[in-house]
Amino acid sequence: MLLGLKPVLVDVDPNTFQISIDGIKKALTHRTKAIIPVHLFGQCADMENIIQIAKERNLSVIEDSAQALGAKYQFLDSRQSFAGTMGDFGTTSFFPSKNLGCFGDGGAICTNRDDLAQMARSLINHGMKVRYYYDNVGVNSRLDTIQAAILNVKLKSLDNITCHVKPQPVFMTWLLPPATVSGFQAGIQNQPISFINIRWLQMDLTGMI
Ligand SMILES: Cc1ncc(COP(=O)(O)O)c(C=O)c1O
Repeated sequence: MLLGLKPVLVDVDPNTFQISIDGIKKALTHRTKAIIPVHLFGQCADMENIIQIAKERNLSVIEDSAQALGAKYQFLDSRQSFAGTMGDFGTTSFFPSKNLGCFGDGGAICTNRDDLAQMARSLINHGMKVRYYYDNVGVNSRLDTIQAAILNVKLKSLDNITCHVKPQPVFMTWLLPPATVSGFQAGIQNQPISFINIRWLQMDLTGMI
């Protein structure tokens, strides 16, 4: 939005609840700059096709992995990558309700590109690269030191939290409407999932019991 770009919403594929590839193709125009797949429910969007489309059209890919931190995606050639590491940028949220949550607001951006990393570091700090020299108009989005310290401790438990929530979809499928169940099962069967982030359902379930 800061760049003056217009977000165009694309619906999900009803079988996987991830962004629809047909929907992306229909939404593309000559003005499209980037695709932003939101990996949902601990599963990854169809990155094979998304990366292919992005390459063909010279588009950036920004993965939102806030709902799938730790999920792995397997490409057709058997390569496996973590959510947030396949596009130009991967983003996540450390909001307290997330699997890796701090005690206030926080988030992170990942990239394998040095130029983008440098730019991101500058933009989160008012556009400053060298102290008091502002190359770009940035924002104040630094991670608070207290939150970082909390995250450092909680990060060590992330795998445990992940293991803890993993078996629950099987149980919860009994309580969900059939369409939702088949969506989950299709998604679960279609890719190796190391992590299933369904805390929102966990909360609903607690409410139901
Ligand atoms: C998939 C996804 N992306 C982004 C966000 C926004 O995170 P934040 O409020 O930390 O910016 C959320 C928060 O719920 C989310 O679930």
